[in-house]
Amino acid sequence: MLHLGFNTAIRMSFSPFQRFLYNFEREKTLSSSEFSLVPFFSAIFRKTNKMTSSVSSSSSRLLFPLLHTPQWAALRTKWAEPIRGFKTANTTAPVFTIRASSTDRKMPRVLITGGTDGIGREAALKLAAEKHEITISGRDPKKAKDVIEQCQAKFNNTPRFIQTDLSLASEVVKFANEVADEQYDICILNAGIMNPKPGRTSEDREATMMTNLVSSYMIAHKILDTRNDENRPLHFVFSTSIFVKFHNATPLGLRFFNPQKVSDWQKSLVPSDVSGPGKYAISKIGLATLSSSISLANLPNVTATSVHPGTVYTNIMSNLPARQQFYIKLARPFTTSLSDAGANLVRAAKNPLPAGKFYLAEKPTKLPAFVYSDLSIAAFEEVFEQFKIRN
Ligand SMILES: NC(=O)c1ccc[n+]([C@@H]2O[C@H](COP(=O)([O-])OP(=O)(O)OC[C@H]3O[C@@H](n4cnc5c(N)ncnc54)[C@H](OP(=O)(O)O)[C@@H]3O)[C@@H](O)[C@H]2O)c1
Repeated sequence: MLHLGFNTAIRMSFSPFQRFLYNFEREKTLSSSEFSLVPFFSAIFRKTNKMTSSVSSSSSRLLFPLLHTPQWAALRTKWAEPIRGFKTANTTAPVFTIRASSTDRKMPRVLITGGTDGIGREAALKLAAEKHEITISGRDPKKAKDVIEQCQAKFNNTPRFIQTDLSLASEVVKFANEVADEQYDICILNAGIMNPKPGRTSEDREATMMTNLVSSYMIAHKILDTRNDENRPLHFVFSTSIFVKFHNATPLGLRFFNPQKVSDWQKSLVPSDVSGPGKYAISKIGLATLSSSISLANLPNVTATSVHPGTVYTNIMSNLPARQQFYIKLARPFTTSLSDAGANLVRAAKNPLPAGKFYLAEKPTKLPAFVYSDLSIAAFEEVFEQFKIRN
Protein backbone atom coordinates (compact mmCIF):
# COMPACT_ATOMS: atom_id res chain seq x y z
CA MET A 1 0.00 0.00 0.00
CA LEU A 2 2.70 2.42 1.12
CA HIS A 3 4.70 1.63 -1.99
CA LEU A 4 1.74 2.26 -4.26
CA GLY A 5 0.96 5.54 -2.48
CA PHE A 6 4.53 6.71 -2.93
CA ASN A 7 4.55 5.93 -6.64
CA THR A 8 1.30 7.79 -7.14
CA ALA A 9 2.68 10.81 -5.30
CA ILE A 10 5.79 10.69 -7.49
CA ARG A 11 3.75 10.61 -10.65
CA MET A 12 1.48 13.45 -9.56
CA SER A 13 4.52 15.71 -9.13
CA PHE A 14 5.43 15.22 -12.82
CA SER A 15 4.75 17.42 -15.79
CA PRO A 16 3.03 15.48 -18.62
CA PHE A 17 6.33 14.96 -20.42
CA GLN A 18 8.10 13.89 -17.27
CA ARG A 19 5.30 11.43 -16.66
CA PHE A 20 5.80 10.10 -20.17
CA LEU A 21 9.50 9.51 -19.56
CA TYR A 22 8.89 8.06 -16.13
CA ASN A 23 6.23 5.67 -17.41
CA PHE A 24 8.57 4.70 -20.19
CA GLU A 25 11.22 3.66 -17.74
CA ARG A 26 8.93 2.23 -15.10
CA GLU A 27 7.17 -0.05 -17.54
CA LYS A 28 10.50 -1.61 -18.44
CA THR A 29 11.81 -1.61 -14.88
CA LEU A 30 8.90 -3.49 -13.47
CA SER A 31 8.16 -5.78 -16.36
CA SER A 32 11.59 -6.89 -17.44
CA SER A 33 14.12 -6.22 -14.71
CA GLU A 34 15.44 -3.12 -16.45
CA PHE A 35 17.88 -1.68 -14.01
CA SER A 36 18.64 1.63 -15.67
CA LEU A 37 16.45 3.52 -13.22
CA VAL A 38 17.84 1.78 -10.19
CA PRO A 39 20.08 4.77 -9.48
CA PHE A 40 16.93 6.85 -9.61
CA PHE A 41 15.17 4.66 -7.06
CA SER A 42 18.35 4.66 -5.04
CA ALA A 43 18.36 8.47 -5.03
CA ILE A 44 14.78 8.48 -3.81
CA PHE A 45 15.79 5.99 -1.19
CA ARG A 46 18.65 8.18 0.01
CA LYS A 47 16.52 11.32 0.04
CA THR A 48 13.71 9.59 1.87
CA ASN A 49 16.21 8.26 4.36
CA LYS A 50 17.44 11.78 5.01
CA MET A 51 13.95 13.13 5.43
CA THR A 52 12.90 10.35 7.73
CA SER A 53 16.10 9.26 9.36
CA SER A 54 14.08 7.32 11.85
CA VAL A 55 12.80 4.92 9.16
CA SER A 56 13.95 1.49 10.26
CA SER A 57 15.61 -0.93 7.88
CA SER A 58 12.56 -3.15 7.97
CA SER A 59 10.39 -0.22 6.80
CA SER A 60 12.85 0.51 4.03
CA ARG A 61 12.61 -3.11 2.95
CA LEU A 62 8.88 -2.67 2.77
CA LEU A 63 9.07 0.65 0.92
CA PHE A 64 11.90 -0.24 -1.45
CA PRO A 65 11.99 -4.00 -1.88
CA LEU A 66 14.06 -3.67 -5.07
CA LEU A 67 16.98 -2.22 -3.13
CA HIS A 68 17.24 -5.27 -0.93
CA THR A 69 17.47 -7.91 -3.61
CA PRO A 70 20.59 -9.90 -4.46
CA GLN A 71 20.37 -8.48 -8.02
CA TRP A 72 20.73 -4.96 -6.65
CA ALA A 73 23.74 -5.98 -4.55
CA ALA A 74 25.31 -7.67 -7.60
CA LEU A 75 24.67 -4.59 -9.70
CA ARG A 76 26.34 -2.28 -7.19
CA THR A 77 29.40 -4.52 -7.23
CA LYS A 78 29.39 -4.57 -11.02
CA TRP A 79 29.30 -0.79 -11.28
CA ALA A 80 32.53 -0.67 -9.36
CA GLU A 81 34.28 -2.78 -12.01
CA PRO A 82 36.52 -0.97 -14.51
CA ILE A 83 35.27 -0.82 -18.11
CA ARG A 84 37.06 -3.31 -20.31
CA GLY A 85 38.08 -3.43 -23.91
CA PHE A 86 39.61 -0.08 -24.77
CA LYS A 87 43.14 1.23 -24.43
CA THR A 88 43.41 4.29 -22.25
CA ALA A 89 44.67 7.32 -24.13
CA ASN A 90 47.55 9.45 -22.87
CA THR A 91 46.15 12.83 -23.70
CA THR A 92 42.87 14.61 -24.37
CA ALA A 93 44.41 17.04 -26.86
CA PRO A 94 43.65 16.25 -30.50
CA VAL A 95 46.77 16.08 -32.66
CA PHE A 96 46.98 18.07 -35.88
CA THR A 97 49.37 17.94 -38.78
CA ILE A 98 48.97 21.14 -40.76
CA ARG A 99 48.81 20.89 -44.53
CA ALA A 100 50.00 23.91 -46.52
CA SER A 101 46.97 24.52 -48.69
CA SER A 102 43.50 23.18 -49.19
CA THR A 103 41.83 22.18 -52.41
CA ASP A 104 38.91 24.50 -53.04
CA ARG A 105 35.78 22.44 -53.25
CA LYS A 106 32.55 24.03 -54.35
CA MET A 107 30.16 21.94 -52.31
CA PRO A 108 30.96 20.55 -48.88
CA ARG A 109 31.35 16.78 -48.81
CA VAL A 110 29.02 15.25 -46.30
CA LEU A 111 29.07 12.06 -44.24
CA ILE A 112 25.73 10.91 -42.78
CA THR A 113 25.73 7.95 -40.42
CA GLY A 114 22.29 6.36 -40.30
CA GLY A 115 21.66 7.76 -43.78
CA THR A 116 19.94 4.57 -44.92
CA ASP A 117 16.66 5.10 -43.09
CA GLY A 118 14.37 7.57 -41.32
CA ILE A 119 15.56 11.09 -40.68
CA GLY A 120 19.13 10.50 -41.91
CA ARG A 121 17.79 9.10 -45.20
CA GLU A 122 15.57 12.14 -45.63
CA ALA A 123 18.52 14.47 -44.99
CA ALA A 124 20.61 12.47 -47.47
CA LEU A 125 17.97 12.91 -50.19
CA LYS A 126 17.80 16.66 -49.53
CA LEU A 127 21.58 17.05 -49.65
CA ALA A 128 21.78 14.92 -52.79
CA ALA A 129 19.18 17.19 -54.41
CA GLU A 130 21.52 20.12 -53.71
CA LYS A 131 24.33 18.24 -55.48
CA HIS A 132 26.43 17.58 -52.40
CA GLU A 133 28.81 14.68 -52.58
CA ILE A 134 27.46 12.42 -49.85
CA THR A 135 28.40 9.22 -48.09
CA ILE A 136 25.79 7.32 -46.13
CA SER A 137 26.33 4.50 -43.66
CA GLY A 138 24.19 1.84 -42.03
CA ARG A 139 23.98 -1.92 -41.55
CA ASP A 140 21.52 -2.77 -44.28
CA PRO A 141 22.76 -2.70 -47.91
CA LYS A 142 19.19 -3.13 -49.24
CA LYS A 143 18.10 0.12 -47.60
CA ALA A 144 21.24 1.80 -48.92
CA LYS A 145 20.54 0.55 -52.45
CA ASP A 146 17.11 2.17 -52.31
CA VAL A 147 18.56 5.55 -51.22
CA ILE A 148 21.23 5.38 -53.91
CA GLU A 149 18.73 4.52 -56.62
CA GLN A 150 16.44 7.39 -55.60
CA CYS A 151 19.34 9.84 -55.62
CA GLN A 152 20.44 8.63 -59.05
CA ALA A 153 16.96 8.71 -60.57
CA LYS A 154 15.85 12.05 -59.11
CA PHE A 155 19.07 14.06 -58.82
CA ASN A 156 21.63 12.31 -60.97
CA ASN A 157 23.76 12.01 -57.84
CA THR A 158 25.28 8.74 -56.61
CA PRO A 159 25.96 8.60 -52.86
CA ARG A 160 28.65 6.30 -51.57
CA PHE A 161 27.62 3.68 -49.02
CA ILE A 162 29.77 2.28 -46.24
CA GLN A 163 28.33 -0.73 -44.48
CA THR A 164 29.07 -0.82 -40.77
CA ASP A 165 27.59 -1.91 -37.48
CA LEU A 166 28.26 0.87 -35.01
CA SER A 167 27.31 -1.30 -32.04
CA LEU A 168 30.60 -3.17 -32.49
CA ALA A 169 33.80 -1.40 -31.54
CA SER A 170 35.81 -3.49 -33.97
CA GLU A 171 33.67 -2.20 -36.85
CA VAL A 172 33.65 1.36 -35.55
CA VAL A 173 37.46 1.43 -35.59
CA LYS A 174 37.50 0.35 -39.25
CA PHE A 175 34.74 2.79 -40.16
CA ALA A 176 36.34 5.70 -38.29
CA ASN A 177 39.69 5.12 -39.99
CA GLU A 178 38.03 5.02 -43.39
CA VAL A 179 35.94 8.17 -42.99
CA ALA A 180 38.76 10.06 -41.28
CA ASP A 181 40.92 9.51 -44.38
CA GLU A 182 38.17 11.01 -46.53
CA GLN A 183 38.45 14.46 -44.86
CA TYR A 184 34.73 15.26 -45.07
CA ASP A 185 33.65 18.86 -44.55
CA ILE A 186 30.45 18.01 -42.68
CA CYS A 187 30.00 14.91 -40.52
CA ILE A 188 26.43 14.21 -39.47
CA LEU A 189 26.64 11.57 -36.74
CA ASN A 190 23.01 10.58 -36.69
CA ALA A 191 22.76 6.76 -36.44
CA GLY A 192 20.82 5.75 -33.36
CA ILE A 193 18.75 3.10 -31.64
CA MET A 194 16.24 3.00 -28.79
CA ASN A 195 15.38 0.02 -26.56
CA PRO A 196 17.47 -2.50 -28.53
CA LYS A 197 16.97 -6.19 -27.92
CA PRO A 198 19.23 -7.57 -26.58
CA GLY A 199 20.64 -4.68 -24.60
CA ARG A 200 24.09 -6.21 -24.49
CA THR A 201 26.20 -6.42 -27.65
CA SER A 202 28.13 -9.50 -28.72
CA GLU A 203 31.23 -7.65 -27.48
CA ASP A 204 29.56 -7.37 -24.08
CA ARG A 205 28.94 -3.64 -24.24
CA GLU A 206 25.85 -1.58 -23.47
CA ALA A 207 24.09 -1.53 -26.85
CA THR A 208 22.44 1.91 -26.78
CA MET A 209 25.46 3.68 -25.34
CA MET A 210 27.80 1.97 -27.81
CA THR A 211 25.70 2.63 -30.91
CA ASN A 212 24.54 6.14 -30.10
CA LEU A 213 27.34 7.71 -28.12
CA VAL A 214 30.59 5.74 -27.84
CA SER A 215 30.79 5.15 -31.60
CA SER A 216 30.15 8.86 -32.24
CA TYR A 217 32.92 9.77 -29.82
CA MET A 218 35.32 7.35 -31.50
CA ILE A 219 34.49 8.57 -35.00
CA ALA A 220 34.53 12.29 -34.17
CA HIS A 221 37.88 12.08 -32.40
CA LYS A 222 39.44 9.98 -35.13
CA ILE A 223 38.30 12.60 -37.66
CA LEU A 224 39.77 15.40 -35.51
CA ASP A 225 43.04 13.52 -35.01
CA THR A 226 43.40 12.85 -38.75
CA ARG A 227 42.40 16.31 -39.99
CA ASN A 228 45.08 17.53 -42.34
CA ASP A 229 44.07 21.10 -43.17
CA GLU A 230 43.01 23.33 -40.35
CA ASN A 231 42.13 26.16 -42.73
CA ARG A 232 39.25 24.15 -44.13
CA PRO A 233 36.07 24.25 -42.03
CA LEU A 234 35.01 21.01 -40.42
CA HIS A 235 31.54 20.81 -38.95
CA PHE A 236 30.01 18.05 -36.82
CA VAL A 237 26.31 17.49 -36.31
CA PHE A 238 25.06 15.18 -33.56
CA SER A 239 21.47 13.89 -33.47
CA THR A 240 20.40 14.40 -29.91
CA SER A 241 16.91 14.39 -28.45
CA ILE A 242 14.45 16.61 -26.66
CA PHE A 243 15.30 14.39 -23.67
CA VAL A 244 18.28 16.68 -22.96
CA LYS A 245 15.74 19.26 -21.87
CA PHE A 246 14.18 16.81 -19.43
CA HIS A 247 17.17 15.41 -17.68
CA ASN A 248 15.58 16.39 -14.38
CA ALA A 249 12.58 14.22 -15.23
CA THR A 250 12.43 12.80 -11.77
CA PRO A 251 10.23 13.56 -8.81
CA LEU A 252 11.22 15.92 -6.02
CA GLY A 253 13.96 17.41 -8.19
CA LEU A 254 16.03 14.23 -7.99
CA ARG A 255 18.09 13.22 -10.99
CA PHE A 256 18.33 9.69 -12.29
CA PHE A 257 21.62 10.67 -13.88
CA ASN A 258 24.04 13.43 -12.98
CA PRO A 259 26.33 14.33 -15.93
CA GLN A 260 28.76 16.02 -13.55
CA LYS A 261 29.59 12.71 -11.91
CA VAL A 262 32.27 10.47 -13.38
CA SER A 263 30.66 7.50 -11.66
CA ASP A 264 27.31 8.15 -13.37
CA TRP A 265 28.94 8.12 -16.81
CA GLN A 266 30.78 4.91 -15.88
CA LYS A 267 27.58 3.25 -14.67
CA SER A 268 25.82 4.19 -17.90
CA LEU A 269 28.33 2.07 -19.84
CA VAL A 270 27.81 -1.11 -17.85
CA PRO A 271 25.92 -3.60 -20.01
CA SER A 272 22.73 -5.24 -18.85
CA ASP A 273 20.31 -7.51 -20.65
CA VAL A 274 17.77 -4.76 -21.18
CA SER A 275 18.73 -1.34 -22.51
CA GLY A 276 15.83 0.97 -21.83
CA PRO A 277 14.85 4.58 -22.46
CA GLY A 278 17.02 5.73 -19.55
CA LYS A 279 20.07 4.66 -21.54
CA TYR A 280 18.69 6.38 -24.61
CA ALA A 281 18.25 9.64 -22.69
CA ILE A 282 21.79 9.42 -21.27
CA SER A 283 23.25 8.66 -24.70
CA LYS A 284 21.52 11.75 -26.08
CA ILE A 285 22.70 13.95 -23.19
CA GLY A 286 26.18 12.58 -23.94
CA LEU A 287 25.93 13.58 -27.61
CA ALA A 288 25.03 17.14 -26.62
CA THR A 289 27.96 17.14 -24.18
CA LEU A 290 30.29 15.74 -26.85
CA SER A 291 29.14 18.45 -29.25
CA SER A 292 29.71 21.12 -26.58
CA SER A 293 33.10 19.68 -25.70
CA ILE A 294 34.26 19.93 -29.33
CA SER A 295 32.78 23.42 -29.70
CA LEU A 296 34.38 24.73 -26.55
CA ALA A 297 37.78 23.34 -27.50
CA ASN A 298 37.98 26.24 -30.00
CA LEU A 299 39.90 24.25 -32.57
CA PRO A 300 40.63 26.28 -35.70
CA ASN A 301 37.65 26.17 -38.07
CA VAL A 302 35.96 23.33 -36.20
CA THR A 303 32.31 23.66 -35.21
CA ALA A 304 29.85 21.23 -33.65
CA THR A 305 26.11 21.46 -33.21
CA SER A 306 23.57 19.08 -31.77
CA VAL A 307 20.01 18.89 -32.98
CA HIS A 308 16.74 17.36 -31.86
CA PRO A 309 15.34 16.80 -35.36
CA GLY A 310 11.74 16.53 -34.18
CA THR A 311 9.55 13.70 -32.96
CA VAL A 312 8.73 11.44 -35.89
CA TYR A 313 7.41 7.89 -35.95
CA THR A 314 10.27 5.91 -37.54
CA ASN A 315 11.80 2.44 -37.17
CA ILE A 316 13.67 3.63 -34.09
CA MET A 317 10.41 3.27 -32.18
CA SER A 318 9.77 -0.32 -33.22
CA ASN A 319 10.95 -1.67 -29.84
CA LEU A 320 8.74 0.59 -27.75
CA PRO A 321 5.80 -1.05 -25.99
CA ALA A 322 2.79 -1.29 -28.31
CA ARG A 323 0.77 1.19 -26.27
CA GLN A 324 3.42 3.89 -26.61
CA GLN A 325 3.75 3.23 -30.33
CA PHE A 326 0.02 3.64 -30.64
CA TYR A 327 0.03 7.03 -28.83
CA ILE A 328 2.92 8.32 -30.90
CA LYS A 329 1.22 7.25 -34.14
CA LEU A 330 -1.99 8.86 -32.93
CA ALA A 331 -0.13 12.12 -32.26
CA ARG A 332 1.34 12.18 -35.79
CA PRO A 333 -0.63 15.23 -36.96
CA PHE A 334 0.90 17.21 -34.10
CA THR A 335 4.46 15.91 -34.37
CA THR A 336 7.16 16.69 -36.93
CA SER A 337 6.88 15.27 -40.45
CA LEU A 338 9.74 13.12 -41.69
CA SER A 339 10.48 15.71 -44.36
CA ASP A 340 10.73 18.53 -41.79
CA ALA A 341 12.90 16.39 -39.51
CA GLY A 342 15.27 15.77 -42.45
CA ALA A 343 15.27 19.52 -43.16
CA ASN A 344 16.11 20.20 -39.51
CA LEU A 345 19.13 17.93 -39.75
CA VAL A 346 20.24 19.69 -42.94
CA ARG A 347 19.77 23.10 -41.30
CA ALA A 348 22.03 22.03 -38.44
CA ALA A 349 24.58 20.82 -40.98
CA LYS A 350 24.66 24.14 -42.80
CA ASN A 351 24.27 26.55 -39.91
CA PRO A 352 26.53 25.77 -36.97
CA LEU A 353 25.46 27.23 -33.64
CA PRO A 354 27.77 28.62 -30.96
CA ALA A 355 28.52 26.48 -27.91
CA GLY A 356 25.65 26.48 -25.45
CA LYS A 357 22.97 26.27 -28.13
CA PHE A 358 21.32 23.46 -30.03
CA TYR A 359 18.50 23.12 -32.52
CA LEU A 360 15.19 22.13 -31.02
CA ALA A 361 13.64 21.09 -34.35
CA GLU A 362 14.15 24.24 -36.47
CA LYS A 363 14.70 26.64 -33.56
CA PRO A 364 18.11 27.55 -32.07
CA THR A 365 17.60 27.05 -28.34
CA LYS A 366 19.73 27.26 -25.22
CA LEU A 367 21.13 23.95 -24.05
CA PRO A 368 20.59 23.20 -20.39
CA ALA A 369 23.69 24.44 -18.54
CA PHE A 370 24.49 20.97 -17.17
CA VAL A 371 25.21 19.73 -20.69
CA TYR A 372 28.11 22.11 -21.28
CA SER A 373 29.21 23.09 -17.78
CA ASP A 374 32.94 22.69 -17.13
CA LEU A 375 32.17 19.99 -14.57
CA SER A 376 30.01 17.93 -16.95
CA ILE A 377 32.49 18.15 -19.79
CA ALA A 378 35.37 17.24 -17.49
CA ALA A 379 33.48 14.22 -16.11
CA PHE A 380 32.42 13.12 -19.58
CA GLU A 381 35.92 13.44 -21.07
CA GLU A 382 37.49 11.67 -18.11
CA VAL A 383 35.37 8.61 -18.83
CA PHE A 384 35.22 8.73 -22.63
CA GLU A 385 38.85 9.52 -23.35
CA GLN A 386 39.52 5.78 -23.17
CA PHE A 387 37.55 5.39 -26.42
CA LYS A 388 39.92 7.45 -28.56
CA ILE A 389 41.30 5.27 -31.32
CA ARG A 390 45.06 5.08 -31.21
CA ASN A 391 46.55 3.72 -34.41
N1 LIG B 1 12.47 9.68 -34.64
C1 LIG B 1 12.45 10.57 -33.68
O1 LIG B 1 11.40 10.99 -33.20
C2 LIG B 1 13.74 11.12 -33.14
C3 LIG B 1 13.67 12.14 -32.20
C4 LIG B 1 14.85 12.66 -31.70
C5 LIG B 1 16.06 12.19 -32.13
N2 LIG B 1 16.10 11.18 -33.05
C6 LIG B 1 17.42 10.70 -33.46
O2 LIG B 1 17.56 10.77 -34.86
C7 LIG B 1 18.43 9.72 -35.29
C8 LIG B 1 17.79 8.96 -36.45
O3 LIG B 1 16.61 8.36 -35.95
P1 LIG B 1 15.46 7.86 -36.91
O4 LIG B 1 14.20 8.20 -36.25
O5 LIG B 1 15.70 8.30 -38.29
O6 LIG B 1 15.65 6.28 -36.77
P2 LIG B 1 15.61 5.10 -37.87
O7 LIG B 1 14.62 5.38 -38.91
O8 LIG B 1 15.52 3.86 -37.10
O9 LIG B 1 17.07 5.21 -38.54
C9 LIG B 1 18.20 4.87 -37.80
C10 LIG B 1 19.41 4.88 -38.70
O10 LIG B 1 20.53 4.49 -37.91
C11 LIG B 1 21.16 3.35 -38.50
N3 LIG B 1 21.62 2.43 -37.46
C12 LIG B 1 20.92 1.94 -36.41
N4 LIG B 1 21.67 1.10 -35.73
C13 LIG B 1 22.87 1.03 -36.35
C14 LIG B 1 24.05 0.31 -36.11
N5 LIG B 1 24.18 -0.55 -35.09
N6 LIG B 1 25.09 0.48 -36.95
C15 LIG B 1 25.01 1.33 -37.99
N7 LIG B 1 23.91 2.05 -38.26
C16 LIG B 1 22.85 1.89 -37.45
C17 LIG B 1 20.07 2.68 -39.34
O11 LIG B 1 20.68 2.00 -40.43
P3 LIG B 1 20.43 0.42 -40.71
O12 LIG B 1 19.02 0.12 -40.39
O13 LIG B 1 20.81 0.27 -42.15
O14 LIG B 1 21.40 -0.25 -39.80
C18 LIG B 1 19.28 3.87 -39.84
O15 LIG B 1 19.87 4.39 -41.00
C19 LIG B 1 18.70 8.84 -34.08
O16 LIG B 1 19.95 9.17 -33.53
C20 LIG B 1 17.60 9.23 -33.13
O17 LIG B 1 17.96 9.05 -31.79
C21 LIG B 1 14.96 10.65 -33.57
